[in-house]
Amino acid sequence: MNNHLTENSTRLTNLAGLSLEMQQQARRADDQAWIEVIQHMDEIYADLVKYQVDLEEKNSALENAQKFIQSILSSMSDLLIVCDINGNIQQVNQALVCCLGFECSNLEGKSLSYIFSDKHAPMIADFPEHIRSGSIIDCEVDLINMKKQTVPMAINCSARFDHKNRISGMVITGRPLGELRTAYAELQQAHEELQTTQTQLIQSEKMASLGRLVAGVAHELNNPISFLFANMHVMKSYQHKLKTYLAAIHQQESTNKIKSLREKLNIDHLLFDMEPLVSGSMEGAERVSDIVKNLQKFTTPQKQKMQSFNILKVIERASSWVMTAAQTKPQLILNFQKSETALMINNNEGHIHQILINLFQNAIDALGHSTEPEISVNITQDKSHINIHVMDNGHGIKPEDISKIFDPFFTTKAVGSGTGLGLYISYGLATEQCQGDLIVQNNTEQGCEFILRLPMEVSI
Ligand SMILES: Nc1ncnc2c1ncn2[C@@H]1O[C@H](COP(=O)(O)OP(=O)(O)OP(=O)(O)O)[C@@H](O)[C@H]1O
Ligand SMILES: [Mg+2]
Repeated sequence: MNNHLTENSTRLTNLAGLSLEMQQQARRADDQAWIEVIQHMDEIYADLVKYQVDLEEKNSALENAQKFIQSILSSMSDLLIVCDINGNIQQVNQALVCCLGFECSNLEGKSLSYIFSDKHAPMIADFPEHIRSGSIIDCEVDLINMKKQTVPMAINCSARFDHKNRISGMVITGRPLGELRTAYAELQQAHEELQTTQTQLIQSEKMASLGRLVAGVAHELNNPISFLFANMHVMKSYQHKLKTYLAAIHQQESTNKIKSLREKLNIDHLLFDMEPLVSGSMEGAERVSDIVKNLQKFTTPQKQKMQSFNILKVIERASSWVMTAAQTKPQLILNFQKSETALMINNNEGHIHQILINLFQNAIDALGHSTEPEISVNITQDKSHINIHVMDNGHGIKPEDISKIFDPFFTTKAVGSGTGLGLYISYGLATEQCQGDLIVQNNTEQGCEFILRLPMEVSI
């Protein structure tokens, strides 16, 4: 019995020893599992922290990008409306808010028709269709501000794409037309004022030239008027003789008496002389009328008036006007066949006359104390243009002055002798009004040459 007990107790002791070991083993397995769980949790936690950091970085990049876009949108002076493809406003910029007076929050989610005038509603409704067909919209429309006033606007509408490159909406940019129109009106007014000043300048330069020419013109007028006077005087004496002769005939005097009276009064010569007297007087009167007409052409402000005329006649007239007024007369050589052979061009005769007067006057002024003063005029011609070369053998132009010669108020003449506007105005007339050019160059030997280049036909 005792043996049996001892045996059992030994077996129990062995069992107990075994379970302790197993217990220890189980505990160790538990510990290991826990360690693994904790390690796994550590890894997950590390991942989470990494995701968090990544997320924060992305968030901050996103915020920066958003701020960047916002700063661009708010500094844009043009108006911006971003909307979905159905025309519902998603975002507007500060410029639009300022222009229309609405708050951003008032507009977001509203349809475009909320801020466009009713008359443009159909056009706005067509925007999505245009956008889908790939066309760009560029038009003028009226927007409605918070006070229900219309604000004219030039707008441009284009498509907006999502990340898969599909059309996701529309972007409308606009600029108030009011500003553009005001700027355009101001520009127009400034342009008109400039044109008026230029016309006044041309006119005052004409009057200055006229002042210099008056003596010459008076002399020109004096010639025909004096022979008109002389003719009239002779005609008056003829009238007296004719009256006496006719009275004798009316009184039915004898044939002998009438015959002797006819010889005494020189009636045959008188009748023969009448015709040249009358035609001479008529020619004189025509000459006076021509001079007056030319003066009128020169003095009255002329609008662009293009006509066909003989340029050779204009050169002759301008040179003779200046020559007759000149105190010391240079030799004038016109190297072209005189005006009997007409060289017809279609241009503004008055302007060309004025340019030539200036060129001849300048040439005379430059000849000053030359020993053999000479002005010569040549004409060269190509297919579409004629070139009038006015050359003198005067003091020429200093090389450093050549580039300033057409500047307004550039003069080397004494105070009171020149305004410095002659060439400035002539250049403007030649290039702008007559569609030609005015070129200057010093001669290789002495003096200088001005070339007035004119089209044979101006284009309208
Ligand atoms: N043929 C020429 N020879 C030399 N210099 C010339 C000649 N033509 C013009 N110039 C120079 O060009 C300058 C400007 O000429 P422009 O005709 O514009 O004015 P201006 O003759 O001085 O004055 P105005 O306004 O009375 O004509 C003259 O002062 C002169 O110095
Ligand atoms: Mg001049």
